[in-house]
Amino acid sequence: AVKRTPFIAGNWKMNLDHLQAIAFVQKLAWSLADAKHDFADAEVAVFPPFTDLRSVQTLVSADKLELAYGGQDVSAHDSGAYTGEISGAFLKALDAKYVIIGHSERRQYHGETDADINAKVLAAQRHDLVPVLCVGETAEDLEKHGASAVPVAQLRAALESVDASKEIVVAYEPVWAIGSGQAATPDQAQQVAAALRTVLVELLGEEAAQATRVLYGGSVKAANIASFLREPDVDGALVGGASLDIDEFSAIVRFKK
Ligand code: G3P
Repeated sequence: AVKRTPFIAGNWKMNLDHLQAIAFVQKLAWSLADAKHDFADAEVAVFPPFTDLRSVQTLVSADKLELAYGGQDVSAHDSGAYTGEISGAFLKALDAKYVIIGHSERRQYHGETDADINAKVLAAQRHDLVPVLCVGETAEDLEKHGASAVPVAQLRAALESVDASKEIVVAYEPVWAIGSGQAATPDQAQQVAAALRTVLVELLGEEAAQATRVLYGGSVKAANIASFLREPDVDGALVGGASLDIDEFSAIVRFKK
């Protein structure tokens, strides 16, 4: 079997300005240094608001931190008359490696459709950013169609015409588990992650599908991170609320299997 490096990502959402971001990353740097001679072999990333990225880049490059970062969204367009949008080229210019695409909050509050999300995934690939594609069902979807149907359909739509030779990360985030304090069970997360991987085999081929990291997101905290990472198809976590608390996030980063 392929070994996939565990991926721990903090989605800050609309929290922490650039000064708070600097303070946070400085503290996180200590935990990362610690984690290295402790146990975790995970890759760690943060997804701050756009206005923080330049500050995060400066710290990461000055202190040579092993910390990846990315945007929480990206425009489907490369440049032009799109007021308020951020090009993947701009993220790349700040050495961002990743970009979150299709978060349920974007789908819900900004009306992003599967087609919009597909266009953004393609834009990310054009700029050599790794998309962290979010999929997940609402409580209503869960009741009507079970857990996998909606995430699988979202995955198919988002990955249309993608370049299978480029890295993609998928984050399974059941909407009912986000910010609710009620995480999915590790078994639920595993079942959907496995279903997503089966579809990835079909869409990207066996090798790329086995190399693709599938994350779980939704009320992840220090107390439950290890139970998710023990599941064979869950390769990490996309953490919201708990990524804003330095002690909690440090403990998550230093998870022990
Ligand atoms: O993108 C991560 C997020 O939606 C999960 O949020 O606060 O439940 O960890 P939270």
